[in-house]
Amino acid sequence: MPSDLDLARTFREVWAELSGIGRAPDGGYLRFAWSPAEIALRDWFRAQATARGMTLTHDGNGNLFATWFPAGDGLAPGGGRATADGLLAPSGGPGGVLTGSHFDSVPHGGAFDGPLGIVSAFLAVDLLRDLGFRPERAITVAAFAEEEGSRFGLACLGSRLLTGAIDPQRAAALTDRDGLCLGDVLGAAPAGVRPDLVAGFDAYVELHVEQGRALTAPVGVASAIWPHGRWRFDVEGEGNHAGTTLMSDRRDPMLTYAFTVLAANKEARLRGAHATVGRVEVRPNATNAIPAAVRGWLDARAADEEALARLVEAVAKKATERAGRDGTAIRFTAESTTGEVRFDTGLADRLATLLGGVPILPTGAGHDAGVLSAHLPTAMLFVRNPTGVSHAPAESATDEDCAAGVRALARVLQELSRR
Ligand code: GLV
Ligand code: MN
Ligand code: MN
Ligand code: MN
Repeated sequence: MPSDLDLARTFREVWAELSGIGRAPDGGYLRFAWSPAEIALRDWFRAQATARGMTLTHDGNGNLFATWFPAGDGLAPGGGRATADGLLAPSGGPGGVLTGSHFDSVPHGGAFDGPLGIVSAFLAVDLLRDLGFRPERAITVAAFAEEEGSRFGLACLGSRLLTGAIDPQRAAALTDRDGLCLGDVLGAAPAGVRPDLVAGFDAYVELHVEQGRALTAPVGVASAIWPHGRWRFDVEGEGNHAGTTLMSDRRDPMLTYAFTVLAANKEARLRGAHATVGRVEVRPNATNAIPAAVRGWLDARAADEEALARLVEAVAKKATERAGRDGTAIRFTAESTTGEVRFDTGLADRLATLLGGVPILPTGAGHDAGVLSAHLPTAMLFVRNPTGVSHAPAESATDEDCAAGVRALARVLQELSRR
């Protein structure tokens, strides 16, 4: 059993293999799904699996799996076998425990959101192997595709496809900013729901960096994910000359847009909810032209689904009234919504106790674990984030806390992979 110091050092060494991949000069990461950086991380995943003698498979939706099951002689998740092209064959075997996370990032995101869960999973397998532990159920490490939705606009795309939470035809129709679709990057239409595969797993555990200032212990367990969603809003006005158009003659969509941003902030504060406008497009985007149109995206999150619906309704109502005064038109379109997730309370309590009574806490961030929790017992482990910053370059976790996370995950996998 390595000492805490040795484990922190091992973590640091493995982490360093990834730290240059997709890193921008500001220290943030550009690791969009199937970009060269994310493909390099997928290659790293395959190399890690191969080095450990794990069975590599995929589900036809862009999600990768590496299975460790020494007793199962090359069996893949849920006891299935890899077909010649690496696609997962139907299961029917001894069941298994799934762990992992995602490699993709938001634009200029942090290093930890996603990759920490995958790196920790491989290191947890190493710890268990060093202990001489032989799992009675397969342990599978997953790398889920497009969790952030930064490329195709829909968060948790890979896990939604795997579980049938999105129609593969709808997923196939999504396009990125270059007009490419999922089929272009996958090389085939997405396979869609794989009930055989999902049923082959007994549990999913995702380790993740904590993304606020809520966790003061090195490791915690998640209780719930706030319901959240993304709404696009399109404001149409009249493009015109900045120098010659009288102020009284203008139909300026930027004013309606700016009002909407402030209204979202005010309504969220009043309600103890969260609202963000982090993306905007302006047409034609010229300094000396009144814009013809502005498109913004509202990310809204609240403690329960009714509160979330009321928040978005209130913002849309105020924005529409304002559009009337500005002579513009505004339209809100829901792009994706995720209902409230309450993780299996029995499992969360059991794991928190197993780990010595670590804190149990909710989060406002979305995760593949939220999607999978509708289908199998699911838990999340959080690792402390001293900056409290996430989706930005300052996101951080110490080597020591990451090592504590690896140890906690190994303990959990050991527990869940017993018969
Ligand atoms: C993903 O991390 C999200 O919560 O938006
Ligand atoms: Mn994220
Ligand atoms: Mn994440
Ligand atoms: Mn996330």
